[in-house]
Amino acid sequence: MTLTRRDFIAATLATAFALTLGARAAQAEPEAAKIGAKPMATAPASAGGDTMPITLNVNGAAHDLAIDPRATLLDALRERIGMTGSKKGCDHGQCGACTVLADGRRVLSCLSLAVAQQGKAITTIEGLAQGETLHPMQQAFLSHDGFQCGYCTPGQIMSAVGLLTEPVGPEDADVRENMSGNICRCGAYPNIVAAIQDVRKANTNAPV
Ligand code: FES
Ligand code: FES
Repeated sequence: MTLTRRDFIAATLATAFALTLGARAAQAEPEAAKIGAKPMATAPASAGGDTMPITLNVNGAAHDLAIDPRATLLDALRERIGMTGSKKGCDHGQCGACTVLADGRRVLSCLSLAVAQQGKAITTIEGLAQGETLHPMQQAFLSHDGFQCGYCTPGQIMSAVGLLTEPVGPEDADVRENMSGNICRCGAYPNIVAAIQDVRKANTNAPV
């Protein structure tokens, strides 16, 4: 069979096209590998790899989980237990949106391993209200319009409740200093401080 000039050009173009695709695929592979090297933050909590059985006490209820030992408390709460009130803002301990209480002390759940929380009483924003009755801090945030988009609010409220049992001075500046780990991109800080001071002055710190 004789190869015409037209056949030759067509075959050459097809080969070049295939080689280009192959090269692109080879380039893409390391990128995918890079993405794979840093697992999605929720992966350890949800599946895969070795798991270990743990029991988390959250808002007074025991939750038995088989969990990756690397899973954070935040992912365990959100992805395994279904309590999505605690927000994942930065996932790096910098915004405070994930703040919960462990034995009454505020902790950043994105930096806490779930396995390390066994035996502690974890309280999330879902556990503050008593039925239809809001915790005084929740009510104060509402009364003072202490949130705008509300994304940081669960962490702000949990942090504020934790603050009530800490040795914090009486001034607004003391509150600001001790709430400085909770970032609000909307700038609702004056109302948040007012809400916290209201609760402190009224001494209405409900037990959690
Ligand atoms: S999500 Fe935990 S500090 Fe930002
Ligand atoms: S209310 Fe929007 S981030 Fe705080």
